[in-house]
Amino acid sequence: MSDLLSNLSPTLLDGTTAFITGGGSGINLGIGKVFAALGANLSICGRDGAKLQRAATELEELGARVVHCVADVRDHDALAAAMERTADAVGPINTLIAGAAGNFNAPAEKISANGFATVVGIDLLGAFNAAHAAFEQLAETSGSITFISAGQAYAPTSNQVHAGAAKAGIENLMQNLALEWGPRGVRANTIVPGPIAGTLGVERLSAEVGAAEWRRAVPLGRFGTTEEVGVMAAVLASPLAAYVSGCRIQVDGGFGLAGFGM
Ligand code: HXC
Repeated sequence: MSDLLSNLSPTLLDGTTAFITGGGSGINLGIGKVFAALGANLSICGRDGAKLQRAATELEELGARVVHCVADVRDHDALAAAMERTADAVGPINTLIAGAAGNFNAPAEKISANGFATVVGIDLLGAFNAAHAAFEQLAETSGSITFISAGQAYAPTSNQVHAGAAKAGIENLMQNLALEWGPRGVRANTIVPGPIAGTLGVERLSAEVGAAEWRRAVPLGRFGTTEEVGVMAAVLASPLAAYVSGCRIQVDGGFGLAGFGM
């Protein structure tokens, strides 16, 4: 167990089943690893079966029981089937991490209608589909949803009109679901990661400005780690956050203050 995780009880998420969309890589896989180390059972979905298989093996090595399902988050029926399989295999879902995302850098006038629809479809429609498909199980377990958002949701960012619109939609979706589903015992929040080392997001989005300049723009002076995002997700999924709903939580070293929008 890492130094950071040793601050938390290794049984914090015992008995929890977490369903993670886009769980095969990046921040979402980092969240899965933290959940596995803290006792959760996991179900990961994504579009690439081979990538999911590799991720599932890594998570199993950390002691988790893992289900993995190929499902495109734009396909509600595929998600619903994956969630049913999850409940049968490892128990009803307590926590949904809606993290599947797609992105590319392009000026607004160069993005086709299909390019815009693709990113909004994966990010926003995918987040709604996952929450909607998980609702009955979450209501049964008094569970929670954590959406993975981005600073573009509130800080306009060049070449990111598609992702910005989608993530702003996710912030609104989160607040509406927190309002409507709170009475059913379901909490909803977003995490806004800043630049996280080793992720496709940083690699793609820092390409123009340069990684060094990005790092200088972070008040804490460094990129974050997927584990640091995972710890916040674990706290949100746990009883420690029993009274936390409808919140946007930035795990960004203060980067949002610099106005770069990630
Ligand atoms: C302009 C582009 C483009 C680009 C794709 N398109 N890349 N347009 N510039 N660089 C257009 C295509 O031309 C096409 O439109 C449409 O988008 C769909 O492209 P496909 O390749 O068919 O889609 P698909 O295979 O589904 O791929 C989706 C994707 C891809 C989003 C384009 O990048 C992807 O799968 N990404 C998943 C992984 C990922 O991006 N992860 C990073 C998330 S980072 P036309 O009109 O030609 O048909 C992240 C961080 C956000 O989310 C916040 C950080 C700050």
